[in-house]
Amino acid sequence: MKSFAPCKKNSPLELLRQAVRRLREKKISEPQAEAEFLLAEVLKVPRHAWHLNPQKTLTRNQAKLFYRLTGLRRRRIPLGHLTRRAYFMGLELEATPDTFLPRPETEELVSLALKLPQNRAGTLSLDIKILDLGTGSGCIAVALAKFLPRACVDAIDTSPPALAVAKRNGLRHAVSDRIRFFPDGLATQDLTARFDLIVTNPPYLSAADLQEAEPEVLRDPRLALYGGKTGTEVFEGWMDRYALTLKRGGWWLTEMGAFQGPKIRRIFQKHGFQNICIQKDLSGFNRFTYGRY
Ligand SMILES: C[S@@+](CC[C@H](N)C(=O)[O-])C[C@H]1O[C@@H](n2cnc3c(N)ncnc32)[C@H](O)[C@@H]1O
Repeated sequence: MKSFAPCKKNSPLELLRQAVRRLREKKISEPQAEAEFLLAEVLKVPRHAWHLNPQKTLTRNQAKLFYRLTGLRRRRIPLGHLTRRAYFMGLELEATPDTFLPRPETEELVSLALKLPQNRAGTLSLDIKILDLGTGSGCIAVALAKFLPRACVDAIDTSPPALAVAKRNGLRHAVSDRIRFFPDGLATQDLTARFDLIVTNPPYLSAADLQEAEPEVLRDPRLALYGGKTGTEVFEGWMDRYALTLKRGGWWLTEMGAFQGPKIRRIFQKHGFQNICIQKDLSGFNRFTYGRY
């Protein structure tokens, strides 16, 4: 790797230009935005704040750190892993290599979830019980608890380090009194007809998908990615185990792979769901399925 070479008094503009060029060389898709995030990280300021004082130079250590972080990004380590932060539904969350980095599609999933209870009873201030399966960083659980101030959420994940991060995110956003975290599933015999809403973003890549995944994706924990041979097996297992925990009239909403719609619909049908609907994400891919129990 080339070593750090300071440039024109380490001015932010100059260093930024250099970083954008280095990221572009490695075909990083949004080099300008990513370089700005990294610069802000080094300066410990909001993303565009350095614009306010572009003459202020970086110290040698800051410039070196910026160069090093850009180098790591060139090696396709995701930005969220470098900053240990993710933004989800306007909330800043801790993210570590132990957690799946929240994706924009999952923000759409949460927006859909917020509309479903509304369909049921016409208000968002409902006293509802929600289950978030495979909570990862806790992004879904925390966002739902934040936006539904009377809701209670149970969140499950088999990964203890991910669960530790999720708990800290609950604390950070002052919703941990309404979220219970479980490492190993719930005793379903005690939970028949408990939840009004189940929201899931399961691991849904197949073995073949994993082979073709971008290097950044493969930095997420394998447990968070691999959904079984065809990609839907983990989801199917969740349905087998947790469908009975929904109240009659409750909703299950899931994210899925773009080509999994027909299979996911059949799984919903097998468990007696009605009003099954498949929805596209903003990129135009079939991405979400929901149904009423
Ligand atoms: C795709 S990630 C979703 C994380 C988070 N909900 C999000 O949307 O960003 C799937 C999560 O499911 C968890 N997981 C995988 N298999 C599981 C299982 N059998 N039971 C519970 N959680 C599981 C993984 O550890 C991972 O955190």
